[in-house]
Amino acid sequence: MREAMASAPVGDDVYGEDPTVNRLQETAAQLLGKERGLFVPSGTMGNQACLRALTRPGDEVLTGVDSHILLYESGAPAALWGIRVETVGEKGLFDGDDVRAAVRPGDAHYARTSAVSVENTHNRAGGRIFPLEQVRDVARAARERGLHLHLDGARLFNAVVATGTDAAVWAEPFDTVTFCLSKGLGAPVGSVICTSAELAREVHRSRKMLGGGMRQAGILAAAGLHALEHHVERLALDHANARRLAAGLEKLGLRVDPPPETNMVMFEVKDTLEFLAALRERSLLINPVAEGWFRAVTHLDVSEADVDEALGRIEEVTRSGVR
Ligand SMILES: Cc1ncc(COP(=O)(O)O)c(C=O)c1O
Repeated sequence: MREAMASAPVGDDVYGEDPTVNRLQETAAQLLGKERGLFVPSGTMGNQACLRALTRPGDEVLTGVDSHILLYESGAPAALWGIRVETVGEKGLFDGDDVRAAVRPGDAHYARTSAVSVENTHNRAGGRIFPLEQVRDVARAARERGLHLHLDGARLFNAVVATGTDAAVWAEPFDTVTFCLSKGLGAPVGSVICTSAELAREVHRSRKMLGGGMRQAGILAAAGLHALEHHVERLALDHANARRLAAGLEKLGLRVDPPPETNMVMFEVKDTLEFLAALRERSLLINPVAEGWFRAVTHLDVSEADVDEALGRIEEVTRSGVR
């Protein structure tokens, strides 16, 4: 990846003249079955650029409980675009009837419901896959009610590899899709927005507003291309490692919930702070995501041997009576 970055041909991407960025955008658009791709520095910027393009100030966006756009983007939908986010369903998932029930009446008392955002895989729900039939059910309801559809596919390729369903099939119902080249795919920076030629103009404007126009960004795009060419299939190893970690934790008497579907393992402990301190003493860094719940994530820098090493250190902690 470093070699690909060092030797990438570059240009000024603010003028659309960086050949490596252009190649990444075309590759991504083709993979997702959309007309255009747009390189952005982060998943957050990708999501926010799309939300602006799909809404007007005062509008409402429906999404799953604990979705990234609501919980982990610094309140950006309200702060940047003057839109509110309403949650539907449970544990990040919802269906068409949830959408129908949540759409506001079309009179001036209410915010205008204008878009639905699906997160797949769902981070806070533990890397869960939003089932394809349920995505289609949500999309049918959204279309019936004239709503736009956004997919926060930060880890879309984890869903692709876990299910064997192509990215273009997952992306098909959506107007805008973001996926991340960083995280499990292993690039240092970057996400791509994939959308129609028409919406791409508005999304491009959002990117400029957010300061996401970059110049010789081909150095970064080359890392993304390398990730798409070499690091997608191997996500299956991360999923196997997550299952291995989950099985090991359960053997130690720790509750894992949900069973890992992709590369995340959520497990329960009684005393969050004590457990965290005991892990840190052993140079093992795992984030608590809520009182009593830790989230471990496997990725290309975590090998099977690393998982076993981590389990050994966790066993020391539980043996010492901390759990
Ligand atoms: C589901 C989801 N969407 C978006 C993002 C944002 O990505 P970034 O950290 O690149 O802004 C993340 C980051 O973890 C995520 O999990």
